[in-house]
Amino acid sequence: MLSIVKGPWLQSPGCNTITIMWETSEPAESQVSYWETELVHRGLNGAPRLVEVTERSITNRGYSTIHTLTLTGLQTDTSYYYQVSSRLKNSVDTVKSDKFIVKTAVAKDTPFSFAVCSETGGAGDHAMSCKIFSTIETYRPEFLLMVGDAVRNGTQYEDWEKWFFSPGQNLFTNTPFYLCPGNHEEYSPWFYKFTANPDPGNYYTFDYGNARFVALDSPAMVSYKNGSPQQTEEFRTGSPQLAFLEEKLASTDAKWKFVFFHYPPYVSADYQVNEMRLFCPIIEKYGVDIVFNSHTIIYERSHPLRAGKVDKNAGTIYVVAGGAGAMQEWLHPKRAWHTAQSLARPHFIQVVIAGGTLELRAIDENGYPFDYIQLEK
Ligand SMILES: [Fe+2]
Repeated sequence: MLSIVKGPWLQSPGCNTITIMWETSEPAESQVSYWETELVHRGLNGAPRLVEVTERSITNRGYSTIHTLTLTGLQTDTSYYYQVSSRLKNSVDTVKSDKFIVKTAVAKDTPFSFAVCSETGGAGDHAMSCKIFSTIETYRPEFLLMVGDAVRNGTQYEDWEKWFFSPGQNLFTNTPFYLCPGNHEEYSPWFYKFTANPDPGNYYTFDYGNARFVALDSPAMVSYKNGSPQQTEEFRTGSPQLAFLEEKLASTDAKWKFVFFHYPPYVSADYQVNEMRLFCPIIEKYGVDIVFNSHTIIYERSHPLRAGKVDKNAGTIYVVAGGAGAMQEWLHPKRAWHTAQSLARPHFIQVVIAGGTLELRAIDENGYPFDYIQLEK
């Protein structure tokens, strides 16, 4: 019997497009039906109720188990209902998902919010991951950055369901995620199969509202093959990834700039990766506002830093969003010079942007903020 075994989940939200993915138990056709609606109501039984029914659909008659369809021609900053379905070849055996809500990206000057999390696999606490993702959903971010280690071992197919898609099942139906590689993703083909990141996929850029985001593949930059961290060829001047980073930061007039990658250059706890500091000058040169890292399963926010010193006027803030766990024993007895705030507490990050104002909150699994900063420009 044909069934949907993962998803649906959302990728790459644009002002007029969005990508919808799901996985079926057997190779099957892919179809997404979607409906415009002006208002979204919840009926008494909790089910979504369509207000305006103008059905459109898109179909891929290829047969696959992992389905990727991109809706186009959508209205900016607009909610739609969608429903995915798949049909076996030469069969009437069709499976349909429930109806879910998807929203396209906002216009350049419209306020928005996003969340940051990580380590559902690194921490390996399924119940906590469920709680964190459920709490993220109550804050209703436009999208989620996952800063790596979403799984325990990315080469194991079952891990993706166990540590990532199962805890995120509800959240991912209505909140697109952007995943960057952590060491636990293990350079696995499943990373590429389960995401629809912009090219080349392991590092990439996208714009949302008045902000530019660049994701990097830090495990490709630092190798632990000989036991101790060593910089790889990715660090040489002119390497494709560093050239990409510099070009994407130099070529934008976005008001806010964010870079996210797994290995933390600055953290006063175990698993700081000093080697990553060598390319911080590129980040700082182009005025990146906040860098999001993970790998160390704690929360930490640096002072604004530039050239290895605190610079309150022109520095970049480094946030370790160690996410869905808390390793108290990983914190060092005393904080480092670059540490502004640091706690071992399960959490996610919420960022709210309204024009030249940015608010960042670290929020625990129960929904309570425990750290806050506001930036103005
Ligand atoms: Fe890690």
